[in-house]
Amino acid sequence: MSDSLLVPSASPTARGPSQPTVRAPVDPRLDLVAEIHRLRRERNAVILAHYYQAGEIQDLADFVGDSLDLSRKAASTDADVIVFCGVKFMAEVAKILSPSKTVLLPDMAAGCSLEDSCKPGPFKAFRDAHPDHVAVSYINCSAEVKALSDIIVTSSNAEAIIRQIPAGKQILFAPDRNLGAYLAKVTGRDMTLWPGTCIVHESFAERELAKLKARHPKALVASHPESAPAVLAGSDHVGSTRSILEYVLKTEAETYIIGTDAGLIHQMQKQAPHKRFIPIAGTEGPCACNACPFMALNTVEKLYLALRDMTPHLELAEPLRQAAALPLERMLAMSASIPAPAESAPATVR
Ligand code: 13P
Ligand code: SF4
Repeated sequence: MSDSLLVPSASPTARGPSQPTVRAPVDPRLDLVAEIHRLRRERNAVILAHYYQAGEIQDLADFVGDSLDLSRKAASTDADVIVFCGVKFMAEVAKILSPSKTVLLPDMAAGCSLEDSCKPGPFKAFRDAHPDHVAVSYINCSAEVKALSDIIVTSSNAEAIIRQIPAGKQILFAPDRNLGAYLAKVTGRDMTLWPGTCIVHESFAERELAKLKARHPKALVASHPESAPAVLAGSDHVGSTRSILEYVLKTEAETYIIGTDAGLIHQMQKQAPHKRFIPIAGTEGPCACNACPFMALNTVEKLYLALRDMTPHLELAEPLRQAAALPLERMLAMSASIPAPAESAPATVR
């Protein structure tokens, strides 16, 4: 990697206009599911959903996936409209990679605590204090922070991408300190970490996991790397949402303890109905939950309204979009070795 990967320090931060969340009344007699299917066809729209969405939204989606797979789908779709059922940074990625499409997010207030923890001003100061470092940012950040970064990663491709950075190069990692610490451990790289956390994964306590393991001694534990180091140390598998799903499908245990948002269990139960999945209960921090409160803002009704009214939609000023596209395109190029989900895997494509 050359120093040409370092972006100019004065990256653009101007955003386009944003729209308020749709709150138009809905006729209670409407069959929302039938209406969503009709509008999707009429508008040539594709519905992309993250695994943390409510089961009924996942079941309506054309494609259900993790952050990397959803980014790839958004970059390659030939639909005119992308309805992104996830959180705002994910819909922003869709707009950055597919600027000619209309990108709808059913609830524009669907944020992310990791994004909130890393504002562009302090992040720029962090970068400026480490001018020789490569800035690797987790995709859970704003378009402005992406524009100030050299490479974006997701939990699926982060390890593979870090291993491609030449050994002598020092690395800054933002905004998730748990994922950063996990990556530093598995790759042996010295990484300077931004101190952000996910309010959902941070709430999983080691003692809760210990209790569940004592109750279910034969269970296998699969956790997302945003969880605390002690939870990861007690897990049999650590990986992205897609990799957790693939792990429970390919291994033979009867019971699994799941260290991520319980929305993922919807796909597990559909694809392995004979197995039992127990989410770790969140007990610590401001969230103390195992369901992302931001993801939960999207509902079937808001999905219908978004398609009906074609709003709220993502807009980004072109200089910002272009600056944020560079590290995202680097990510896609550097993760070419990571295959898309197999036909039999979780994604449902209609
Ligand atoms: P994935 O990249 O595994 O989909 O995770 C996204 C996320 O927001 C986890 O909290
Ligand atoms: Fe952000 Fe955590 Fe929600 Fe994922 S689960 S979107 S990291 S707040």
